[in-house]
Amino acid sequence: MSETLENLYSETRTFPPPAELAANANVKAEAYDEADENRQWFWEQQAKRLSWAKQWDQVLDWSNAPFAKWFVGGELNIAYNCVDRHVEAGHGDKVAIHWEGEPGDSRTVTYSDLLKSVSQAANTLTELGVTAGDRVAIYLPMIPEAAVAMLACARIGALHSVVFGGFSVDALATRIQDADCKVVITADGGYRRGKPSALKPTVDEAVAQCPSIEHVLVVRRTGEDVTWGDKDLWWHETVEQANDQHVPQAFDAEHPLFILYTSGTTGKPKGILHTTGGYLTQASYTFNAVFDIKPETDVYWCTADIGWVTGHSYIVYGPLSNGATQVMYEGTPDTPHKGRFWEIIDKYKVSLLYTAPTLIRTMMKWGDDIPAKYDLSSLRLLGSVGEPINPEAWMWYREHVGHDNAPIVDTWWQTETGAMMISPLPGVTASKPGSAMTPLPGISADVVNDEAESVPNGGGGFLVLREPWPSMLRGIWGDDQRFIDTYWSRFGKGAGVGDEWIYFAGDGAKKDDDGALWLLGRVDDVMLISGHNISTTEVESALVSHPSVAEAAVVGATDPTTGQAIVAFTIPRGNVDTSGDAGEKLIQELRNHVAKKLGPIAKPRQIMLVAELPKTRSGKIMRRLLKDVAENRSLGDVTTLQDSTVMDLISSGMQESK
Ligand code: WT7
Repeated sequence: MSETLENLYSETRTFPPPAELAANANVKAEAYDEADENRQWFWEQQAKRLSWAKQWDQVLDWSNAPFAKWFVGGELNIAYNCVDRHVEAGHGDKVAIHWEGEPGDSRTVTYSDLLKSVSQAANTLTELGVTAGDRVAIYLPMIPEAAVAMLACARIGALHSVVFGGFSVDALATRIQDADCKVVITADGGYRRGKPSALKPTVDEAVAQCPSIEHVLVVRRTGEDVTWGDKDLWWHETVEQANDQHVPQAFDAEHPLFILYTSGTTGKPKGILHTTGGYLTQASYTFNAVFDIKPETDVYWCTADIGWVTGHSYIVYGPLSNGATQVMYEGTPDTPHKGRFWEIIDKYKVSLLYTAPTLIRTMMKWGDDIPAKYDLSSLRLLGSVGEPINPEAWMWYREHVGHDNAPIVDTWWQTETGAMMISPLPGVTASKPGSAMTPLPGISADVVNDEAESVPNGGGGFLVLREPWPSMLRGIWGDDQRFIDTYWSRFGKGAGVGDEWIYFAGDGAKKDDDGALWLLGRVDDVMLISGHNISTTEVESALVSHPSVAEAAVVGATDPTTGQAIVAFTIPRGNVDTSGDAGEKLIQELRNHVAKKLGPIAKPRQIMLVAELPKTRSGKIMRRLLKDVAENRSLGDVTTLQDSTVMDLISSGMQESK
């Protein structure tokens, strides 16, 4: 990408915080000033929200940049902070997890229950020979044992490496091998789309290729038959029989906590490494600040899977370190019916909801009448994460889920950042639909041009982070050079320019006239149309702003005249007629609609109406595959695709439309 991104879209709607929420907010506007005045002092205050066994001597050691050390010399136990201290404070009977199984079974886990299970699991892992610094793979469905397993590892200083339960044998085996894991914690299976979905056979195959694995600990969830080998142990015959007393030992603030693999578009997965004190400080602070949690009354629900960083920071470490009560759901959003999410919110009186744009757009596609059937009045705040949220999807979320008054926090962050970085503060920020607004207090984000110069308001470019932050990744497991090359060598000192280390996030962004930040997707996805840099996100948002469109994915395809041309794949809303001429008419209308919203430069060359889009298992659109289709190539690697039949349908449609 050269110089800057074009700034095509402008948004004028703003939504100030509700007065009552603003008056009682956990974090007020002063936080920005305090952090600006002294960033390290600010983070030091947030670290004090945790319980430390030993105080730190130094807040930040950046002398070996870009390898950071936060809270140097401090010691703490993460599990103690997430569990024991709440029980000691008299909240043992408080519900930590309202768990809802897909078939409709449920479990209530209090903080005392959690303490017992985590202590038992810690004792079992210790008996199995796991010690501080060892790696444990976790391959589980969304059941409370997933949180227990992670906390048990953290309690004894072992690193967990959670692998999403939908991943294949190969994906699991490469991750186990990369980190030399000693133990795998899994289950016979879990429930997906109304039926048991086995996990154990995948683990058996993977473990056969992984000599480092000494034991496999198996939770019984579905009760289906499993093949049993020498290394296998039932969770209920070990953990649930183990001694429930366990004294947590404090670990160094920089003791490694977990590895989590991100696939990215090229190369082998990167094992993102996070450590203890700084990670928990920022996960805990941002959960409190951005969700404005009132642990006495709020019920929080994050719909992510524990296999993603969102599940790590905002199902396990953020909420539990704050003593929150949360809902955990095992299954899919349309099982047994498309109102399942709203039914759960109604049942548990969920007040804080954290979900992803892909789900919001899916719900939009299913129709407004579905959420309307449920009582959603308990919701007082809504969160979004994972992708840019299109302004119209934001408006739909606000109107149909947030009854027109619940603030929306659009939170930008990454596996690498560990915790939220850019987001409105719900009691302070007047938010705009589709913008993540401003960096959180203590965070220094900027949009720069090729020369790392800050772009003025109204300009677009690359999103960078100029100052280290507590929950930043500490490296890529086993590959320091790749860590430097990937994140620190595009701009600043790592690129041989100046003295400042600048973190390159890989996202395009723009600043609007008020300085609010708009995330524009991965820079690899930016299109170059007749010499203009145009973001796929903006064209997609323009399409979604048409009342007939639920979802859209846009790619730049090679074009003899314009260099690249815009090709859009569009999912119509449920009630829209697209048969025959009506479809053709809609396509023309959409092309003109985009041209009107963004200017003629952004008018798509071609629009296809499709039923589904190719997505990764975490819900991100795989534009790379659509580009293959648009450029008439055979498809690249489809192994991370959520549903492999989608591409066949799209490719055959593309042939027909030619
Ligand atoms: C990438 C990181 C953060 C947890 C889930 C994803 C995109 C994430 C937003 C947002 C626009 C967003 C970025 C980022 N992204 N949140 N609110 N607005 N884009 O973690 O898998 O590491 O992906 O997701 O492109 O770089 P991840």
